[in-house]
Amino acid sequence: MELAKRLAAAAEYVPAGSVAADIGTDHAYLPIYLVEAGICRRVIATELRPGPFRSALRKVDEHKLNHKVDLRLGDGLKAINPSESDVIVLAGMGGNTIREILSASPEVLSTVKMLILQPMADPGDLRSWLAANGWRIYDERLVEENGKIYVIIAAVPGCEEVKDSVLLELGPRLAEKKDPLFGRYLEIIKSQYERALAGMRSSNSAAAREKALETENKLAGIRRIAGCQ
Ligand SMILES: C[S@@+](CC[C@H](N)C(=O)[O-])C[C@H]1O[C@@H](n2cnc3c(N)ncnc32)[C@H](O)[C@@H]1O
Repeated sequence: MELAKRLAAAAEYVPAGSVAADIGTDHAYLPIYLVEAGICRRVIATELRPGPFRSALRKVDEHKLNHKVDLRLGDGLKAINPSESDVIVLAGMGGNTIREILSASPEVLSTVKMLILQPMADPGDLRSWLAANGWRIYDERLVEENGKIYVIIAAVPGCEEVKDSVLLELGPRLAEKKDPLFGRYLEIIKSQYERALAGMRSSNSAAAREKALETENKLAGIRRIAGCQ
């Protein structure tokens, strides 16, 4: 099974011999890869929607892996029990969707040793949630695929010391280790904020003015970090 680069990068964090749970598996590419590569002895894969669930079933059948990939139709972590998996992967969803899925099942999370997250948007909100809920950002990585840059976050139970809140927006481990794509990633985030700010400034509402002020502060922080790279 050949994986997309962002999923291959997520797979690299999965500890050998672990039982992983892939939440929102879609075609079950990641679980099939993890068992075929001998990284996991078993993978639980969950899917919310019946259509993708059926495609996952077909793929797992094709690869004759029904005894190793345990497919479940259900909402987020509600489809798994505490202590069933060591590692949870949530990839290809928005950061706030990931956050909501994690928040909804504290009893499952309390038995998990690692979270591997690949948010498609709002990674800052997700990192803030991790830091506020007893997760330390163990490592982060950027990968480029088809002209887009994706972030992968690996978190373990612990305390994330927040020295600068802007770093939660940008990725504290990405900044520390000077990820090779970090400079370009910063430019992309900076332009997103600049565009959003221009929209806010064109509105006269008090709420937009307040949001614009908050965004200007964030932008100043991003420019400061970019200047240090
Ligand atoms: C864009 S796909 C990503 C698939 C795969 N994880 C990847 O990264 O390529 C997101 C999948 O998550 C599923 N999904 C969304 N919310 C979910 C939830 N609460 N529980 C389980 N699956 C969910 C969607 O149905 C969809 O198949």
